[in-house]
Amino acid sequence: MNKIKILDKSFSIFLHEKKINSKISKLAEELNTHEKSKDVVFLGILNGCFMFVSELMKNIDFDCRISFVKLASYQGTSSTGNIKELLGINDDIKDKTVIILEDIVDTGYTIDHIKKELKKHNPAEIKTCTMLFKPEAYQSKEPIEYKGIEIPNEFIVGYGLDYNGYGRNLRNIYQVTN
Ligand code: IMP
Ligand code: MG
Repeated sequence: MNKIKILDKSFSIFLHEKKINSKISKLAEELNTHEKSKDVVFLGILNGCFMFVSELMKNIDFDCRISFVKLASYQGTSSTGNIKELLGINDDIKDKTVIILEDIVDTGYTIDHIKKELKKHNPAEIKTCTMLFKPEAYQSKEPIEYKGIEIPNEFIVGYGLDYNGYGRNLRNIYQVTN
């Protein structure tokens, strides 16, 4: 299907599953080359990463561990407003190479926040691997070591990414048209 509707918005096809999967296997090759000799913990950021992580991991050929965390937003008791907490992290990332797995990096605020939280657990190093990257939106100074596909600053859904919770199950990626 080339055009779809989710809730009030229309979307048209942007990236086919085939192209996405071939970019993901390229990312896996890069990781296999550069991270093989290390004690790596891959850390997927839920919910959006689930399809990306499953495809990526089928192509990783060294011994590694895979774990997931979730960023929970809740209203703080003070006037600081929205606080985000990293749920599901435990201490066995100490002295390990942590590679964050994201579906998409947009402004980079999420990655900055996650890195700050992870540093409290004293990993040896933290790297980021993202399936999609919006260079025009990126505001952070932190490096993104592994980028799958660079895309324009437009809203997309599918392959794990959602619009108000819907669209994550779509096998292709769609761009908003209105
Ligand atoms: P950032 O903090 O601005 O880098 O945003 C990262 C998060 O925003 C991602 O993990 C997604 O959950 C969400 N996001 C950013 N762009 C899109 C998009 O085009 N479609 C769906 N979700 C998006
Ligand atoms: Mg996300």
